Amino acid sequence: MDTKIYHVDTDDLNLITTHAARILKQGGLVVFPTETVYGIGANALDKSAASNIYTVKGRPSDNPLIVHIADEDDIHHYADASHPAVAPLIKAFWPGPLTLVLPKKDIIPDTITGGLSTVAIRYPDNTIANAIINASGLPICAPSANKSGTPSSTVFEHVYHDLNGLVDIIIDGGPSHVGLESTVLDVTSPTPVILRPGAITKSMMEDVLQTTILESTNDTVSSGIPKAPGMKYKHYAPSGHVVLLDGTHNDILAFLTTVSKDQTGLIGSTELVEQVTRFTTYNLGSQQDAKTIAANIFKALRSMDEQQITTIYIEAFEESELGVAIMNRLLKAANYNILHLPK
Ligand code: TXA
Ligand code: MG
Repeated sequence: MDTKIYHVDTDDLNLITTHAARILKQGGLVVFPTETVYGIGANALDKSAASNIYTVKGRPSDNPLIVHIADEDDIHHYADASHPAVAPLIKAFWPGPLTLVLPKKDIIPDTITGGLSTVAIRYPDNTIANAIINASGLPICAPSANKSGTPSSTVFEHVYHDLNGLVDIIIDGGPSHVGLESTVLDVTSPTPVILRPGAITKSMMEDVLQTTILESTNDTVSSGIPKAPGMKYKHYAPSGHVVLLDGTHNDILAFLTTVSKDQTGLIGSTELVEQVTRFTTYNLGSQQDAKTIAANIFKALRSMDEQQITTIYIEAFEESELGVAIMNRLLKAANYNILHLPK
């Protein structure tokens, strides 16, 4: 199909919104920016529109989609939001990168929840996304705008690479400033559980709730049923072989002198990559600036593929606060291949 491309900085916002809303109402697919990553949106109440998302992404049909709303009161149409943690979390973090998993209402089709009795809902913090959702008058289910298994798209060029010709509209809204997908929080049991870490961290939510919340340490519960079904699949993987390097900068530099420089790349903090000249490098930003590092991770992974790098070394970061989400994505990209240095 011919994909209509819009650029928010040059095209008329009213025209974009009206066209996108019309396509969504007709059951089409619209790629739009959010503050986390780009999403492929469809009418969440239209089974066949939603199932087209799975086809376009090459996504397994048991991996459920997040429903996006742009008015916090809409949550009550689609889910039971009576859990006492819901209202304070919404007040503190919506619109923003927090997705809440709640018991679903019947109006939400099984197609988009992978047959689960729960639904994931989020209110993104992005003017264009919200304008489109509101103009359509619909809940919009939207996974990340990438082919299943590859790094999520945080800039227009990556969306275009993966999805041009496969969707009705792509809207270029500039780079996604968070750069990692939303935190997914399961609020279906008395103590909420983080299923996917993101920019809204455990301590930020605990500060609001004044109580401890849990982190899912395992991608599956003991019965073997996936908790966040998406977490069991291959994720964020570039084509090159990825190895995480955990150690001091000196340990990492010493290790790197022992490896071949052919088609080898290094992704790391400014402080590390500035000391490396033998390889293609990607500078994620200062190690003092986790937000910038997070925003650059998916771009870095894709840039290594663009340069046909076959072995990609990545600096491991401290797993605290935003570092938890950063390391979650990096470990998946590396298929948990991590070298603890010195060897
Ligand atoms: O930041 C984001 O959340 C982006 C933007 C586009 O909003 N969306 C996104 O969607 O990352 P996706 O489909 O790539 O990831 C959704 C995650 C998956 O891990 C999925 O398994 C989980 O949320 N999920 C969705 N519904 C769920 C449910 N009912 N129960 C548990 N996990 C669920
Ligand atoms: Mg995804």
